[in-house]
Amino acid sequence: MTAAVIAVSNRKGGTAKTTTAVNLAAELGARGRRVLVLDLDTQGHAGLGFGLRPGPGEPTVHDTFRGGAPALARAVRATPYPNIDLAPADRGFEVGPEPIAPASLARALDPLRAHYDAVLIDTSPSADALLVAALAAADHVLVPTLLHHLAVDGVGQFARSYVRVAATLNPRLTGISLLPVQVDMRVTMQRETRARLAERFGETRLLAGIRPDIALAEAFGSHRPVKYHKPRTRSVVDFEALCDHVCFRVMQH
Ligand SMILES: Nc1ncnc2c1ncn2[C@@H]1O[C@H](COP(=O)(O)OP(=O)(O)OP(=O)(O)O)[C@@H](O)[C@H]1O
Ligand SMILES: [Mg+2]
Repeated sequence: MTAAVIAVSNRKGGTAKTTTAVNLAAELGARGRRVLVLDLDTQGHAGLGFGLRPGPGEPTVHDTFRGGAPALARAVRATPYPNIDLAPADRGFEVGPEPIAPASLARALDPLRAHYDAVLIDTSPSADALLVAALAAADHVLVPTLLHHLAVDGVGQFARSYVRVAATLNPRLTGISLLPVQVDMRVTMQRETRARLAERFGETRLLAGIRPDIALAEAFGSHRPVKYHKPRTRSVVDFEALCDHVCFRVMQH
């Protein structure tokens, strides 16, 4: 087994990147797939979504940028949920005098790939060295996006980073999927935005998406994936469909 590495990214903030990483991991884990979540965003929200927050001095995924593969392996811990491990964020991490080598995360992840079916990397809403490191380690990118007018521009900006990294640093980065979130096709603006995204990026790259569901926010507030908070809510069905896409399209690739 060698894990498919999937970065969950967008230039825009608040587009459900963390929600997607946490709840996709939960669904993959429930199906018996072994998942590792890397909480690369120093906000540490992916860890919180599983109820995990490292204490002072405990190892974090950001130690990778100082200590390489052994440091990443030390940061990995089990979550309370089946088949999901997590490397938590260092909420105080700052890039030091040594710049982050673009290939550092990819190299450190290599020995761990044999232990998992999927590695999900939650990234922050920025185009910094950490994002480049995440894209340099990934095989595929999942881009959660709201269907607002600015979405096409935000996804377009992000797509430029994706193309640059795929062309210069990481030939394995060969797939991008757009995941509309808070989808309500009764709203004209959403239908128009969806059509523009399909036109610009291709219908096959555009997934059905996740409907609005307050249970997602409630689940996050109670520090658990929605599947374990309110198993019959509609976003669970939507994350099952996303998981099908990931299992049958992304991981098979
Ligand atoms: N389908 C949905 N329905 C309702 N609320 C949602 C949905 N998806 C996400 N949310 C809520 O939207 C907010 C932003 O989500 P989230 O934190 O996952 O975004 P993010 O892209 O990770 O943000 P950041 O850019 O700060 O990392 C959260 O309060 C979350 O609970
Ligand atoms: Mg986030």
